[in-house]
Amino acid sequence: MVVANRLPVDDSVAPDGACEWRRSPGGLVSALHPLLQQHTPATWVGWAGGTGPAPMLADVDGVRMHTVPLAGDDVRDHYEGFANATLWPLYHDAVEQPVYHRRWWEAYQRINQRFAEAAAEAAEPGAVVWVQDYHLQLVPGLLRAIRPDLRIGFFMHVPFPPPELFMQLPRRAELLLGMLGADLVGFQRPQAAHNFAQLATKVLGLAATDRRIAVDDRVVRIGAFPVSIDMAEMEALATRPDVVTRAARIRRDLGDPQHMLLSVDRMDYTKGIEQRLKAYSELLATGHVKVRDTVMVQVAVPSRERVEQYQILRERVEREVGRINGEFGRVGEPAIHYLTQPFDRAELAALYRATDIMAVTPLRDGMNLVAKEYIAARVDNAGALLLSEFAGAAAEFPEAFLVNPHDLEGLKLTLMHALQAIPADLTARMTAMREQLRVNDIQAWARSYLTALDQSGNLVHRLTIT
Ligand code: ADP
Ligand code: G6P
Repeated sequence: MVVANRLPVDDSVAPDGACEWRRSPGGLVSALHPLLQQHTPATWVGWAGGTGPAPMLADVDGVRMHTVPLAGDDVRDHYEGFANATLWPLYHDAVEQPVYHRRWWEAYQRINQRFAEAAAEAAEPGAVVWVQDYHLQLVPGLLRAIRPDLRIGFFMHVPFPPPELFMQLPRRAELLLGMLGADLVGFQRPQAAHNFAQLATKVLGLAATDRRIAVDDRVVRIGAFPVSIDMAEMEALATRPDVVTRAARIRRDLGDPQHMLLSVDRMDYTKGIEQRLKAYSELLATGHVKVRDTVMVQVAVPSRERVEQYQILRERVEREVGRINGEFGRVGEPAIHYLTQPFDRAELAALYRATDIMAVTPLRDGMNLVAKEYIAARVDNAGALLLSEFAGAAAEFPEAFLVNPHDLEGLKLTLMHALQAIPADLTARMTAMREQLRVNDIQAWARSYLTALDQSGNLVHRLTIT
């Protein structure tokens, strides 16, 4: 059983006002959905995206949907408030100021309790329950109190911050204790596990190493398990004849430029969209990049739209895209093609195959699965990946063109370097990155996490994870 704030389907409103079910945004769903659908029967406990009573949902690809209802004030105070205006900015190096409100904490506790009860009700005796991400940090402890028979895992998809930042949280002890209700607490990077161990000692006075923490009469294991994607699925898409044709068509529609540059992000201030636009604009201004030769496509799907920092970001990005197009575009030749629509997987695969340079420049990111999807889609071993040092993925791909997105001159230089790289260099880099990804795909992630969760090996065997 997976317990995550979001179900893999999201209740969005169609243009005619009707309810429409779509795949949920973000990396958590991209990682877990393909995994679960291969290992049914499985249950996913989560929120369906709307407000009001829980809708009855049919199974999705064989996975049972167990909906947790959220009312309007739950969404405002738990999801938009404590999760996305307190924890999200704090855990991402406080690149935006975290906001603290006592009523948000009350909602966070209430909603975590609701998720724990929903999981307790739906779990078979002795089941394995895998709790996900920063929205639900109290669930492992709450769930253990109701159902001590369960084996409970917790995985944090986002960065886990150093003590200097985490210590800001008014309810830091409760958050740590909640996570320690799990048998295994997993993070993306070893540094995050180290931060957690240090905090367990500093805040709770527990004996902790980077692998184990003693809590009462239990030992909680901790460790790094870098999340990944279903490489085979993306490869299969990227080799489909209609996708190959579509990729060629995209380039034609863009005017057959010498270079196509692509970015695909949720509209989030952690993604470094503004830094990227600034670097590109300066390269246009100095003539290092010319609109006719080079085309930039920025896909930025709106996210968390009622949170103020996200509204401000969207306005700033749209103003900047407008300014750049006004200043450097020509009739029929915009400098930046800016798209805010969600695309299906085949269209994303076509975009990845069409592009010469994929620019992934977050200021901080737990992993960044877009970077991995791009590598997976490049079955032709071509294309360049410009990748921020501050994305978890950077640790796995030293062959990418690594950048510090805060360093504008460095960003411009590295982008030019990627634009001018010779094909043999790009092929060597991409081949190495693809080999790394093939060995460390989503199956490998699940295998290593679940083996650590159940050291007997029975679980991995039962789930037939290959
Ligand atoms: P995050 O989880 O912070 O959003 P990731 O890069 O890890 O960042 O994951 C983003 C996921 O969302 C990827 O699987 C990507 O393909 C998907 N995605 C991003 N933009 C779109 C879009 N416009 N349409 C469909 N999927 C998208
Ligand atoms: C990140 C988080 C996920 C979240 C996703 C999309 O990947 O780690 O937990 O689901 O972003 O964000 P949203 O707020 O739309 O769920």
